[in-house]
Amino acid sequence: MSSVPLTEAVPEIIRVCNLRKVYRTGDVDVEALRGIDLSIRRGEFVAVVGPSGSGKSTLFHILGGLAPPTSGEVWIDGIDLRKMSESQRTEMRQRKVGFVFQKYNLLPTLTARDNIGLAQAIAGIKTQPVGFDNTLKMLGIVNRLDHKPRALSGGEQQRVAIARALVNQPAILLADEPTGNLDTANSNAVLDLLRDLNQRTGQTILMITHNPEAAAFADRIVYMRDGKIVEKGGG
Ligand SMILES: Nc1ncnc2c1ncn2[C@@H]1O[C@H](COP(=O)(O)OP(=O)(O)OP(=O)(O)O)[C@@H](O)[C@H]1O
Ligand SMILES: [Mg+2]
Repeated sequence: MSSVPLTEAVPEIIRVCNLRKVYRTGDVDVEALRGIDLSIRRGEFVAVVGPSGSGKSTLFHILGGLAPPTSGEVWIDGIDLRKMSESQRTEMRQRKVGFVFQKYNLLPTLTARDNIGLAQAIAGIKTQPVGFDNTLKMLGIVNRLDHKPRALSGGEQQRVAIARALVNQPAILLADEPTGNLDTANSNAVLDLLRDLNQRTGQTILMITHNPEAAAFADRIVYMRDGKIVEKGGG
């Protein structure tokens, strides 16, 4: 079997073949993903849309190396996830993939600034990327940075989580409902920021959303239903 070299020349930054995920909880098996095939080109901005429970977060966790698939192939930037060592997977999570969690996952004892800084420290990166001040400004959290999560609204926590995912300038951003808790103005600011990053830096973005207006910011919409990718209105 020939391996695909890790190079900018690989046009697909994500490739998924016949991906399955079964959660075993006690006696009950939940088939969360039932044979997903997906190809994402470098620099694409893709929205993932589907009903609750259709497997969207499960797919993202696997793409981000946060959970193992039950079977199937996942290639990230030309590397087979199955062939990655634990340390390669860790490095991928720290440097290649930025993750915005559906439930934010901020550390409660740290301020917003330190939550963002921790992501950098873990990845061993010492300087803030050029233009990051502007990112914080677009996210509208500049004067909230010295607060701990409990002193922030849900929407502010969500925007801090987005800043944390972006601070290491990942090649791939996986954002699980990044505007789920935002009003229209803040939602538009986040979507403008993502589209700007995508166009200016070529960052590949996958975004889960329930909101058709948010999905319209993407180049392409992928629909999921019952653990599969479907045509719109199908299934
Ligand atoms: N850790 C887990 N253990 C067992 N079952 C799980 C687990 N995580 C998810 N599931 C199940 O897998 C299926 C897909 O869940 P997933 O969270 O991927 O859906 P989703 O599309 O992200 O939904 P939502 O829009 O509500 O966030 C659901 O039936 C869910 O109950
Ligand atoms: Mg989800």
